[in-house]
Amino acid sequence: MKEVHYNGLTFVPYIEKERIAARVKELAAQIKKDCEGTVPLFICVLNGAFPFAADLFRAVDMDAEITFIRLKSYEGMASTGVIKEVVGLSEDIKDRNVIIIEDIVDTGKTIHNLLADLKKKEPASLKIATLLFKPEALVCDVKPDYVGFEIPKKFVIGFGLDLDGIARNLEDVYQLKENA
Ligand code: IMP
Ligand code: MG
Repeated sequence: MKEVHYNGLTFVPYIEKERIAARVKELAAQIKKDCEGTVPLFICVLNGAFPFAADLFRAVDMDAEITFIRLKSYEGMASTGVIKEVVGLSEDIKDRNVIIIEDIVDTGKTIHNLLADLKKKEPASLKIATLLFKPEALVCDVKPDYVGFEIPKKFVIGFGLDLDGIARNLEDVYQLKENA
């Protein structure tokens, strides 16, 4: 695998698609076990979570539903801390077992705000599945329930994650090369 370049920055291969696929299977098995006897409702947080959500949802081999919500908090390589709900939720989640699917939990502000909003709608349970988690960047009191990979506080792209809208279609996750 080769380095890639976007906006004059260099990114190095970090998590290969095969590793992601294997981890997705493990997470799906755990979710299936935890949700036994229920029909969970997955909420995919657009835009970034869509490749992970597509894979995870198909790997969860049980009756389940999926819907989508669109949020945005990042500009360039820093979280703005202001979460814009671009497309809201249309489903009734009252008494449902809800699993939010995120691409990454960084400062945790996005998920913290979303959790507070969704809790008001009285779901039976509310869990978070995230492909990536940067524990060192966390400033909110949130703990993702299903984590693909814990990663250091460095900017990553690919597999849904973007740099100002590009690079989401890379099949693997790449990390910013420091001092490049
Ligand atoms: P948080 O609110 O700081 O947790 O940020 C969450 C959102 O910021 C994610 O859903 C991503 O869209 C974006 N984000 C955070 N870290 C990265 C990164 O390393 N690369 C690309 N996007 C990121
Ligand atoms: Mg996102």
